[in-house]
Amino acid sequence: MNIAVFVSGRGSNLQAIVNSRELQNSVHVKAVVSDKSDCPAFKIANTLSLNIFKIGSKDGFISYDDLIFSLEELKIDLIVLAGFLKLIPVKFIRHFKGKIINIHPALLPSFGGAGMYGINVHRAVFEASAKVSGATVHFVDETYDTGKIITQRCVDISDVNSPEEIAERVLQVEHQILPYAIQKFSEGKISIAGNRVIIK
Ligand code: GRF
Repeated sequence: MNIAVFVSGRGSNLQAIVNSRELQNSVHVKAVVSDKSDCPAFKIANTLSLNIFKIGSKDGFISYDDLIFSLEELKIDLIVLAGFLKLIPVKFIRHFKGKIINIHPALLPSFGGAGMYGINVHRAVFEASAKVSGATVHFVDETYDTGKIITQRCVDISDVNSPEEIAERVLQVEHQILPYAIQKFSEGKISIAGNRVIIK
Protein backbone atom coordinates (compact mmCIF):
# COMPACT_ATOMS: atom_id res chain seq x y z
CA MET A 1 0.00 0.00 0.00
CA ASN A 2 1.24 3.49 -0.83
CA ILE A 3 0.70 6.31 1.62
CA ALA A 4 1.23 10.07 1.73
CA VAL A 5 1.96 11.64 5.10
CA PHE A 6 1.00 15.27 5.75
CA VAL A 7 3.08 17.09 8.36
CA SER A 8 3.60 20.58 9.76
CA GLY A 9 5.94 20.12 12.71
CA ARG A 10 8.38 17.85 14.42
CA GLY A 11 7.57 14.65 12.52
CA SER A 12 7.75 12.11 15.31
CA ASN A 13 4.63 10.35 13.99
CA LEU A 14 6.17 10.24 10.50
CA GLN A 15 9.26 8.69 12.09
CA ALA A 16 7.10 6.17 13.98
CA ILE A 17 5.46 5.13 10.70
CA VAL A 18 8.80 4.75 8.95
CA ASN A 19 10.27 2.82 11.89
CA SER A 20 7.31 0.48 12.33
CA ARG A 21 8.39 -3.11 11.77
CA GLU A 22 4.81 -4.15 11.09
CA LEU A 23 4.57 -1.67 8.22
CA GLN A 24 8.01 -2.25 6.78
CA ASN A 25 7.18 -4.75 4.06
CA SER A 26 3.67 -3.73 3.12
CA VAL A 27 3.40 0.05 3.45
CA HIS A 28 5.44 2.55 1.45
CA VAL A 29 5.65 6.24 2.28
CA LYS A 30 5.55 7.60 -1.26
CA ALA A 31 5.08 11.27 -0.41
CA VAL A 32 5.49 13.70 2.45
CA VAL A 33 3.40 16.85 2.16
CA SER A 34 3.83 20.00 4.22
CA ASP A 35 2.67 23.58 4.36
CA LYS A 36 5.96 24.52 6.07
CA SER A 37 9.15 24.00 4.10
CA ASP A 38 11.36 24.48 7.15
CA CYS A 39 9.61 22.08 9.54
CA PRO A 40 11.73 19.33 11.16
CA ALA A 41 9.42 16.69 9.65
CA PHE A 42 10.57 17.76 6.19
CA LYS A 43 14.18 17.25 7.28
CA ILE A 44 13.29 13.68 8.26
CA ALA A 45 11.70 13.20 4.82
CA ASN A 46 14.81 14.63 3.13
CA THR A 47 17.13 12.37 5.09
CA LEU A 48 15.07 9.37 4.04
CA SER A 49 14.97 10.61 0.41
CA LEU A 50 11.19 10.60 0.37
CA ASN A 51 9.23 12.57 -2.24
CA ILE A 52 8.42 15.98 -0.83
CA PHE A 53 5.54 18.30 -1.76
CA LYS A 54 5.16 21.84 -0.43
CA ILE A 55 1.51 22.80 -0.42
CA GLY A 56 0.12 26.33 -0.36
CA SER A 57 0.23 29.63 -2.17
CA LYS A 58 3.82 30.71 -1.42
CA ASP A 59 6.50 30.76 -4.11
CA GLY A 60 7.63 27.27 -5.01
CA PHE A 61 4.59 25.67 -3.36
CA ILE A 62 1.94 23.74 -5.29
CA SER A 63 -1.86 23.93 -5.28
CA TYR A 64 -4.20 21.23 -4.00
CA ASP A 65 -5.27 20.55 -7.60
CA ASP A 66 -1.68 19.81 -8.56
CA LEU A 67 -1.26 17.74 -5.43
CA ILE A 68 -4.30 15.59 -6.30
CA PHE A 69 -2.71 14.95 -9.69
CA SER A 70 0.67 14.01 -8.18
CA LEU A 71 -0.81 11.76 -5.51
CA GLU A 72 -2.89 9.96 -8.13
CA GLU A 73 0.24 9.49 -10.23
CA LEU A 74 1.99 7.97 -7.22
CA LYS A 75 -1.01 5.66 -6.74
CA ILE A 76 -1.55 6.75 -3.15
CA ASP A 77 -4.02 4.49 -1.33
CA LEU A 78 -4.14 6.33 1.98
CA ILE A 79 -3.42 9.85 3.20
CA VAL A 80 -2.24 10.16 6.78
CA LEU A 81 -2.44 13.51 8.55
CA ALA A 82 0.24 13.41 11.22
CA GLY A 83 0.38 16.80 12.84
CA PHE A 84 -0.78 18.69 9.74
CA LEU A 85 -2.21 22.00 10.93
CA LYS A 86 -4.01 23.48 7.93
CA LEU A 87 -7.64 22.81 7.08
CA ILE A 88 -7.70 20.81 3.86
CA PRO A 89 -10.02 22.04 1.06
CA VAL A 90 -13.31 20.19 0.66
CA LYS A 91 -12.50 19.33 -2.94
CA PHE A 92 -9.40 17.41 -1.87
CA ILE A 93 -11.25 15.63 0.94
CA ARG A 94 -14.07 14.61 -1.41
CA HIS A 95 -11.58 13.37 -3.98
CA PHE A 96 -9.95 11.01 -1.45
CA LYS A 97 -13.15 10.25 0.50
CA GLY A 98 -12.65 7.40 2.97
CA LYS A 99 -8.92 7.43 2.34
CA ILE A 100 -7.78 10.19 4.71
CA ILE A 101 -7.07 9.58 8.38
CA ASN A 102 -5.85 11.92 11.12
CA ILE A 103 -4.17 11.44 14.49
CA HIS A 104 -5.55 13.68 17.23
CA PRO A 105 -3.80 13.93 20.61
CA ALA A 106 -6.91 13.57 22.80
CA LEU A 107 -9.94 11.36 23.19
CA LEU A 108 -12.41 12.70 20.63
CA PRO A 109 -15.15 13.87 20.53
CA SER A 110 -13.82 15.85 23.52
CA PHE A 111 -11.03 18.38 23.10
CA GLY A 112 -11.26 18.66 19.32
CA GLY A 113 -12.21 21.31 16.79
CA ALA A 114 -10.73 24.54 15.50
CA GLY A 115 -7.73 25.74 17.49
CA MET A 116 -7.40 22.40 19.27
CA TYR A 117 -3.96 21.32 18.17
CA GLY A 118 -0.59 20.74 19.78
CA ILE A 119 -0.18 21.99 23.31
CA ASN A 120 -3.58 23.79 23.19
CA VAL A 121 -5.25 20.39 23.42
CA HIS A 122 -3.19 19.25 26.37
CA ARG A 123 -3.69 22.59 28.14
CA ALA A 124 -7.47 22.22 27.80
CA VAL A 125 -7.30 18.65 29.10
CA PHE A 126 -5.11 19.80 32.02
CA GLU A 127 -7.38 22.77 32.86
CA ALA A 128 -10.43 20.48 32.84
CA SER A 129 -8.62 18.33 35.41
CA ALA A 130 -9.29 15.26 33.28
CA LYS A 131 -7.87 12.07 34.72
CA VAL A 132 -7.45 10.24 31.44
CA SER A 133 -6.41 11.43 28.03
CA GLY A 134 -5.22 9.57 24.99
CA ALA A 135 -5.04 9.59 21.23
CA THR A 136 -7.60 9.10 18.48
CA VAL A 137 -7.21 8.04 14.87
CA HIS A 138 -10.24 9.03 12.81
CA PHE A 139 -11.37 9.41 9.23
CA VAL A 140 -11.24 12.97 7.99
CA ASP A 141 -14.44 14.63 6.86
CA GLU A 142 -15.08 18.23 5.92
CA THR A 143 -14.67 19.78 9.36
CA TYR A 144 -12.02 19.57 12.10
CA ASP A 145 -11.96 16.37 14.16
CA THR A 146 -15.52 15.18 13.46
CA GLY A 147 -14.93 12.17 11.21
CA LYS A 148 -15.71 8.65 12.38
CA ILE A 149 -13.35 7.31 15.02
CA ILE A 150 -11.23 4.35 13.93
CA THR A 151 -9.22 3.61 17.06
CA GLN A 152 -8.37 5.20 20.40
CA ARG A 153 -6.12 4.49 23.35
CA CYS A 154 -6.23 6.00 26.83
CA VAL A 155 -3.46 7.07 29.17
CA ASP A 156 -3.73 7.71 32.88
CA ILE A 157 -2.91 11.36 33.60
CA SER A 158 -4.24 11.49 37.17
CA ASP A 159 -0.78 12.35 38.53
CA VAL A 160 0.49 14.89 35.98
CA ASN A 161 1.68 18.37 36.89
CA SER A 162 1.63 20.08 33.50
CA PRO A 163 0.15 20.01 29.98
CA GLU A 164 3.64 19.12 28.73
CA GLU A 165 3.60 15.95 30.81
CA ILE A 166 0.27 14.99 29.24
CA ALA A 167 1.70 15.66 25.78
CA GLU A 168 4.62 13.34 26.48
CA ARG A 169 2.41 10.46 27.60
CA VAL A 170 -0.08 10.91 24.78
CA LEU A 171 2.68 11.02 22.17
CA GLN A 172 3.83 7.50 23.15
CA VAL A 173 0.31 6.27 22.48
CA GLU A 174 0.09 8.16 19.16
CA HIS A 175 3.21 6.36 17.98
CA GLN A 176 1.48 3.04 18.66
CA ILE A 177 -2.03 3.59 17.33
CA LEU A 178 -1.20 5.45 14.12
CA PRO A 179 0.95 2.64 12.65
CA TYR A 180 -1.65 0.16 13.96
CA ALA A 181 -4.48 1.93 12.10
CA ILE A 182 -2.39 2.15 8.92
CA GLN A 183 -1.61 -1.55 9.13
CA LYS A 184 -5.27 -2.48 9.57
CA PHE A 185 -6.24 -0.23 6.65
CA SER A 186 -3.57 -1.84 4.45
CA GLU A 187 -4.91 -5.28 5.34
CA GLY A 188 -8.43 -4.21 4.39
CA LYS A 189 -9.55 -4.86 7.95
CA ILE A 190 -11.27 -1.53 8.52
CA SER A 191 -14.89 -1.32 7.48
CA ILE A 192 -17.91 0.84 8.24
CA ALA A 193 -21.13 -0.72 9.47
CA GLY A 194 -23.87 1.84 9.95
CA ASN A 195 -22.44 4.49 12.23
CA ARG A 196 -19.51 2.48 13.45
CA VAL A 197 -16.02 1.77 12.20
CA ILE A 198 -15.19 -1.88 12.68
CA ILE A 199 -11.63 -3.20 12.90
CA LYS A 200 -11.16 -6.91 12.35
C1 GRF B 1 0.93 15.24 17.48
O1 GRF B 1 0.61 15.36 18.83
C2 GRF B 1 -0.32 15.11 16.66
O2 GRF B 1 -1.29 14.34 17.24
C3 GRF B 1 -0.75 16.54 16.64
O3 GRF B 1 0.43 17.24 16.39
C4 GRF B 1 1.51 16.53 16.95
C5 GRF B 1 2.49 16.29 15.86
O4 GRF B 1 3.62 15.66 16.32
N1 GRF B 1 -1.87 16.79 15.81
P1 GRF B 1 4.72 15.15 15.32
O5 GRF B 1 4.97 16.25 14.29
O6 GRF B 1 4.22 13.89 14.66
O7 GRF B 1 5.92 14.91 16.18
